[in-house]
Amino acid sequence: MADSTIREEHQPPKGKLANLKTLWSFISVYKLQLFFACFFLLIAATTVLVLPTAFGDIIDIASSDEGLKPEGYLTFLAIVVIAMAVATAMRFYFVTWLGERVVADIRKAVYERLITLSPEYFEANRPGEIVSRLTADTTLVQTIVGSSVSVWARNILIAIVGSVWLFVTSPSQMTYFVIVVPPLLFAIIYIGRRVRKLSRSSQDKVADVGARANESLSALNIVQAFTQEAFEAKRFGTHVDDAFQLAKRRIRVRAFLTFLIIFILFSGIAMLLFNGVQSVSTGTMSKGEMFDFVMRSILVASSFASLSEVYSELQRAAGSAGRLAELLSAESTIKAPAKPHALPQTVDGDIRFENVTFHYPTKKNIAAIDGFNLHIKPGETVALVGPSGAGKSTLLQLLLRFYDPQTGKVTIDGIDLRDTEPTEFRKHLAFVPQETIIFADTIAENIRYGRLEANDDDVRNAAKAAAAEEFITVSDEGYDTFLGERGTRLSGGQRQRIAIARAILRDAPILLLDEATSALDAESELKVQSALDHLMEGRTTLVIAHRLATVKKADRIIVIDEGKIVAEGTHDELVAKDGLYKRLAHLQFSVGQ
Ligand SMILES: Nc1ncnc2c1ncn2[C@@H]1O[C@H](COP(=O)(O)OP(=O)(O)OP(=O)(O)O)[C@@H](O)[C@H]1O
Ligand SMILES: [Mg+2]
Repeated sequence: MADSTIREEHQPPKGKLANLKTLWSFISVYKLQLFFACFFLLIAATTVLVLPTAFGDIIDIASSDEGLKPEGYLTFLAIVVIAMAVATAMRFYFVTWLGERVVADIRKAVYERLITLSPEYFEANRPGEIVSRLTADTTLVQTIVGSSVSVWARNILIAIVGSVWLFVTSPSQMTYFVIVVPPLLFAIIYIGRRVRKLSRSSQDKVADVGARANESLSALNIVQAFTQEAFEAKRFGTHVDDAFQLAKRRIRVRAFLTFLIIFILFSGIAMLLFNGVQSVSTGTMSKGEMFDFVMRSILVASSFASLSEVYSELQRAAGSAGRLAELLSAESTIKAPAKPHALPQTVDGDIRFENVTFHYPTKKNIAAIDGFNLHIKPGETVALVGPSGAGKSTLLQLLLRFYDPQTGKVTIDGIDLRDTEPTEFRKHLAFVPQETIIFADTIAENIRYGRLEANDDDVRNAAKAAAAEEFITVSDEGYDTFLGERGTRLSGGQRQRIAIARAILRDAPILLLDEATSALDAESELKVQSALDHLMEGRTTLVIAHRLATVKKADRIIVIDEGKIVAEGTHDELVAKDGLYKRLAHLQFSVGQ
């Protein structure tokens, strides 16, 4: 059930590290970069571990009475420092490169998958949420691959090797180390977890604030028309304050954590120093050794401290990777069979609905189309009329195979749509949907969407045929005028004419028009209609219209109600009969006159 899918979507990410496997399949492609990243990471970590000893040796030499020359040691120190700088920079380069590259690949792969999915998928999963996976989840993955993993690996190395080193070089000092590290870890892990939880909910709250603002600002004319500005401002304010309240709790815990870390860390260091100074004065330790030990202890302790933080980041990334893996493995319900039948090169446009019954996946109890039979001959113009919600648009959706019927079949030229490759047979269809879709692009590119290889003249002719030329030429930049998101810079009728031009340019043998001229004034409709009449010649056409004047000339009119055919015939035949069509015709033509 779609419902359960929706519920699953909202469950928190599982955070299983197993999900990182998918991630690995993207990373392992770049073996060379990975090798370099690991190589430089190793060098950088080694230099960090060696550095305290190098410093310590120099201190010992400088403070020794035997007049030893420090040059050799200084050269060694310089080499270590240079190696550390170079290796760290190179590690940063390769690791970040990997992060960016891998995320770019994941984004592409996810998008390529999403764009092939059936509408059913987007009804069960909110598109907004899916888009946020493409952006937010991939960004999280990017920080992981591009930094956290390497920081984690570096810190593990330093923590483990450093501890062993400490044990070996100064076992007696380790008691203090053992006293300092566990409370530090405890503070960081437990309180840190709390901070992260709070900061996540505070992020959600901020997202809420954003969503609210987005919703009300994009519906600004409704807000102002109903004079709800004060109400919206108050509601928004409440959300902002909620976010602040949560942030306050987070800041308090965080401040306490900061106190704890600094207090424990520096009293630990002070203890180490105190103990070190004593050892130095009794002669069991040189000054350099003491410096070496203290500095290494700080390094090791801070490496331990950052491990837990990075680990939880890794877990969050695993959750993100899991959600992305889910998208990558999403299967479209609309697929081609293993051996698809190809439609002939030139399609006649013979369409059959045979015994088709169809329920929308989200409305299983009502049949949108019910035992539907219809044969449309090549070149015929068939009009579908009927009340709102009768199932007219649904028939076109089935013909485009956005959904498969539960029983019966839809065929074009005798071939069941389920036996063909969807991207192949759809090339033979030109579709003007009920809700016009305009992309945030220029007029020319919006029309060219019908056939990308069309040249400028083709685009112009299509626009002319759709009676769009007149408003295009008076636009500031003619065909290069940018239309804005969702075509908000055009009137409804202008948008529709662009959509018609797009379908005209498609030049396909089967034409599907769903209320294509509903938003046009009588004069423009007449113009577009004559262009469409011209276009329909020699093509199989399915026209849906509420305005019966638009469909009067159709070869055949099919009257649909509740997913079934209730009458069919020409306009005159249907008017002669008593029934739904006569009623509709009577209402429209007598009221209109
Ligand atoms: N995506 C969908 N999911 C679930 N039900 C849907 C979906 N689209 C349409 N329906 C339902 O299917 C039925 C037929 O809808 P359809 O869009 O085919 O009607 P229509 O005849 O085109 O109506 P109108 O003239 O208003 O465009 C309606 O009851 C509608 O609520
Ligand atoms: Mg409709």
